[in-house]
Amino acid sequence: MDNRRIGLFDSGLGGLTVMKELMQALPEESIVYFGDTGRVPYGSKSSETIIRYTKSDIAFLQTFDLKMIIAACGTASAIALPHLKGDCRVPLLGVTEATAKVAAKLTRNGRIGVIGTAGTVRSDAFAKLIAKENAEVSCRSVACPMFVPLVENGYADHKATRLIAEEYLEPLMQQGIDTLILGCTHYPILSHVIQGIVGDGVQLVNPGTCVAQEVKSLLTDNQLLSSGEAASYHFYLSDDPSEFARLGSLFLERSISADVSRVDIETYTEATL
Ligand code: DGL
Repeated sequence: MDNRRIGLFDSGLGGLTVMKELMQALPEESIVYFGDTGRVPYGSKSSETIIRYTKSDIAFLQTFDLKMIIAACGTASAIALPHLKGDCRVPLLGVTEATAKVAAKLTRNGRIGVIGTAGTVRSDAFAKLIAKENAEVSCRSVACPMFVPLVENGYADHKATRLIAEEYLEPLMQQGIDTLILGCTHYPILSHVIQGIVGDGVQLVNPGTCVAQEVKSLLTDNQLLSSGEAASYHFYLSDDPSEFARLGSLFLERSISADVSRVDIETYTEATL
């Protein structure tokens, strides 16, 4: 048994799609969420900046007594985590590995599409991980830089989003993919739009469900599950949290009346890790 909380972070609110899956898979686990809403997006920044931001996110979360930290952000997982694993006092998990494994198992025709931020696509992280699982599988990645601002601003259901999504997904459809990795944790909010465009023949892979199953196995196998007291959820943001209740409940698909606090993330640096 381990009643310490799980720490989760993202560049903004996208990581809440991972939190939603964790809450479902592990309803007794308490969670501390940090969303770097003051510095979102990460995906268009340089690798150096993404690594620096990720280090400060982890430094902040390490001020809590946690049992593990999850980078609920495709960009931080793909670009920063390979440089940081040794810097964290508790197990540090990203979303890329579990998601790549699931996708490699799911594909029937060996053609997987990946959509993600410019940074994630530049890193080629998903394709490299999939190649390790199955060298026969081909992977085509496309950056969708406009998805994150559309989602963060509540445009998930807008016709403009559908038009942009059609444009982004066209090259993947031409490749005849049968599996599509939603390589950014904001994208599950657009699942219905994306599924409508790619059709039911293409299976969408949500990093949140993959990582929630991975965390569940890890905690179960190592006897680290919480003992069954009521779970608590705390949220920290690096910008004004006044819109959080409205947007956050959209991501979590439940109303949020929980604690939301603002944190000055710039004061947490590599030196405070
Ligand atoms: N949720 C982040 C990711 O998964 C959003 C990307 C961003 O901040 O640009 O990559």
